[in-house]
Amino acid sequence: MQYAELTAEEAAEYIQNDFVVGIGGFSSVGTPKAVPFALAKRAEAEHAKGNTFRVGLITGGSTGDQIDGALSRAHAVKFRTPFQSHKDMRAAINRQETQYFDLNLSHVAQDLRYGFLGHMDVCIIEAAEITKDGGVVPTSSVGISPTLVKSADKIIIELNERHPQAIRGMHDIYEPANPPYRREIPVYAPKDRIGQETIAVDPSKVLGVVRTNLKDNIAAFTEPNPVTTKIGENVAEFLINELRRGIIPKEFLPLQSGVGNIANAVLGSLGQCPDIPSFTMFTEVIQNSVIDLMETGRISFASGSSLTLSDDVLDRVYGNIDFFKNKLMLRPQEVTNHPELVRRLGIIAINTALEVDIFGNVNSTNVTGQKMMNGIGGSADFARNAFLSIFTCPSVAKGGVISAIVPMTPHVDSNEHSVKIIATEYGVADLRAKSPVQKAHEIIEKCVHPDYKELLWDYLKLAEGKSHTPMTLKKALAMHIAFEETGDMRKADFK
Ligand code: COA
Repeated sequence: MQYAELTAEEAAEYIQNDFVVGIGGFSSVGTPKAVPFALAKRAEAEHAKGNTFRVGLITGGSTGDQIDGALSRAHAVKFRTPFQSHKDMRAAINRQETQYFDLNLSHVAQDLRYGFLGHMDVCIIEAAEITKDGGVVPTSSVGISPTLVKSADKIIIELNERHPQAIRGMHDIYEPANPPYRREIPVYAPKDRIGQETIAVDPSKVLGVVRTNLKDNIAAFTEPNPVTTKIGENVAEFLINELRRGIIPKEFLPLQSGVGNIANAVLGSLGQCPDIPSFTMFTEVIQNSVIDLMETGRISFASGSSLTLSDDVLDRVYGNIDFFKNKLMLRPQEVTNHPELVRRLGIIAINTALEVDIFGNVNSTNVTGQKMMNGIGGSADFARNAFLSIFTCPSVAKGGVISAIVPMTPHVDSNEHSVKIIATEYGVADLRAKSPVQKAHEIIEKCVHPDYKELLWDYLKLAEGKSHTPMTLKKALAMHIAFEETGDMRKADFK
């Protein structure tokens, strides 16, 4: 199929003020790049003429500088969902210039199909190849692209030569039906292939194709440090123990590992641990450490929605595509994060918290309950349904003035009912089969930084023995208030 060829600027001209724009791809990779960047320039030109020009932006997950960065610097984003991790977009959200609503990533495609997200005017997706019948072979991610091309009035395709056509066959495109016609998703093991290699596209909707040759340029991960390495070792030791006492079956269970530097380091430590057998992953993002561990045979297979790899590591995968092709599978995020599959496959889910309270409630998103960091992502999709739900975090942040363990989190993303294990560099708290006060003892004993231990014991003493959940409402946010007022949580007083 031959579609009309467009420049990025011509494609951006189609997009009007107040349009809702869908962006294909996932987790800053496999996203279109040239047209969103041209759209930001168009917005700046319209603003210079005194015209209002802002669009709604719906993506699979985070995006890179060409999308969230450029469009937020151009003040061109009216609303944004479901996840972002760019400093300029974060700033636009936190000054309420951009209205942001945080969504569980497994919900985005179905919310579009259900009509919850309103009308979509146009979507832009990246392709490695256009098939004879006009379909699309995605690149290094899938995200919500299969649903975008059905939902949007018009489609713009960026055909990116940076990705080899040999990537065809790595994707498994499947969309569940809407209720009341939905059936089970027939994945019974991470490797099960259930869909198509390509995304079907209605050619009459395609505005045209923009040719590119652009890298995703995702930020390199910071090297593991003694704290993240110790967290990884603590999680690995805990899992080995669960394996030895027969809680985790001897074949081991598929792992899910969250985004960010800590998750990448934890996975690296797990992979290096010889007592854990070679394992599979059923996860959302496939990060650098997964590829390293595949090359050493520690990970035998990984299903995810994106190859969130630094450029050098993606080049390694493409340079050895025959080795990786039957070990990697890219699916829509609706499938990778699906509660039904997470529960059925018995996923061990490892995600990162900003802070945790002494009863096991996790805040992954809102700093001091007020400032958005990135969004909930897929963490709760996995945490709520996992075989074992583990949250990790360093015991302190910002050089020690913030404790990651607090009396009460001012915002909750995953609540105490979903969170089973907390791990910091000091140890692992096992919250299974414990009451709130028992959880508080376990967390303070095992996970808290020494600078904060006495403080948290003092807090607990205020209410211990007085109610089921020993909470003192007047003091529950005292550590956060001390941070706001003095810049140091250690200044809180519970005497
Ligand atoms: N209060 C304020 N800031 C905090 C904090 C706290 N309690 N805990 C951490 N931070 C800051 C860190 O200091 C760091 O700031 P900096 O960038 O200015 O240095 C920043 O948060 C990121 O923390 P870092 O320690 O580098 O961890 P990370 O890169 O692993 O990110 C999350 C941690 C929680 C932000 C990240 O994992 C996330 O967005 N999670 C939610 C989504 C998710 O879990 N997705 C996975 C599903 S598959």
